[in-house]
Amino acid sequence: MTSAHDPLAPPAVDRFGTPGTPDATRVMLLGSGELGKEVTIALQRLGIEVIAVDRYDGAPAHQVAHRSHTIDMTDGDEVRRVVELEKPQVILPEIEAIATAALAEIEKDGLARVVPTARAVQLTMDREGIRRLAAEELGLPTSRYAFASSLEELREACTMVGFPCLVKPTMSSSGKGQSSLNGPDDLQAAWEYAQSGARVQGARVIVESFVDFEYEITLLTVRSVDPATGEIRTDFCEPIGHRQERGDYVESWQPQVMTQDAYDSARSVAARVTGALGGVGVFGVELFVKGVDVYFSEVSPRPHDTGLVTMGSQVLSEFEMHARAVLGLPIVTTMSSPGASAVIYGGADGEGVGFEGVASALAVPEADIRLFGKPSASEYRRMGVAVATAEDVDLARERAREAASRVRVVRAG
Ligand SMILES: Nc1ncnc2c1ncn2[C@@H]1O[C@H](COP(=O)(O)OP(=O)(O)OP(=O)(O)O)[C@@H](O)[C@H]1O
Ligand SMILES: [Mg+2]
Repeated sequence: MTSAHDPLAPPAVDRFGTPGTPDATRVMLLGSGELGKEVTIALQRLGIEVIAVDRYDGAPAHQVAHRSHTIDMTDGDEVRRVVELEKPQVILPEIEAIATAALAEIEKDGLARVVPTARAVQLTMDREGIRRLAAEELGLPTSRYAFASSLEELREACTMVGFPCLVKPTMSSSGKGQSSLNGPDDLQAAWEYAQSGARVQGARVIVESFVDFEYEITLLTVRSVDPATGEIRTDFCEPIGHRQERGDYVESWQPQVMTQDAYDSARSVAARVTGALGGVGVFGVELFVKGVDVYFSEVSPRPHDTGLVTMGSQVLSEFEMHARAVLGLPIVTTMSSPGASAVIYGGADGEGVGFEGVASALAVPEADIRLFGKPSASEYRRMGVAVATAEDVDLARERAREAASRVRVVRAG
């Protein structure tokens, strides 16, 4: 028998119980946003009991899980307490701001399997950890980079890396605290902005040279148990192209056209980085492409927001693939149609907002929408997404954008 905490062992779940009974197969999500909500639904379709945890009540996955908890997920004691209470076999960290030391302990003590592994979660929540692994241990091509813990160090780091460059807190996501610098005059503001956007005070930052890419992709890479051999195999989806604003994705499409050489390099980079992280599940490998050059940017050890498009474009969405892979089940990465997704934003602040124009949005050919049910909105908060398919990506993008634009977020009442 393989031990529950051996990260290379196939998943521990080899028999499915009934939800709501002592025999249930239980999966706990740490982070219950819109991606977690879709993972929850996918798991429930396989008869899994799902416990959703987040830092606020009524988070999207809370609304569909069997049970939910609201805790401070950066507090290791709190994380340990809910795990001991609910006794899940599998833990799916859905966000980066988690007490990863507690996850490592939970894995070591054999309480639950952490997906993909506690080490992978720890490395990827910290831009320094994953960058050093990718560039220094694996030798993957990345932007030039340096780290800094003070304004003085930042000055030196920028001199080493050169302008233009980007400064990002090492612990942050969704573009928080990021700025681009054209010259030394921008240093002070970039340092202050990074401190304001970081998860911790006195935060360390990474300086990255600006990569003048032609396009950027997410290469969804899935590690799963091959039913034929019992070994872990790696599969790749068709590349997903996306457009970012304010460090957040606004639309994505699949497939992104790439040359064969660039696609081969992309798969090679993705295979190496996910192989080094280990475990099973979906990984979103973010890559910048310029000609035949492919630069590794970062990786999510979980479904990726730009992968929402797969709800329309693939036989199995990234959420279904993740659910299957973490349970040790076989997956398929087949694309069924070119597709696109476009984000529906909050537009303004409000509690319990309403949505108008849903019927009109769904009248767009081959369009579908998801409304996440978030209890409060703000200008750039992602409240929903439109997904569309078409015979080509351009038309799919047009449809997704049109459907998204027809949904209006309005104040309650
Ligand atoms: N070195 C770089 N050169 C050029 N563009 C970059 C660079 N780093 C980041 N960007 C741009 O900024 C976007 C966000 O950067 P990054 O993915 O590092 O931040 P993030 O906060 O993790 O965002 P998210 O959580 O949405 O993935 C990238 O998708 C890319 O468009
Ligand atoms: Mg990113």
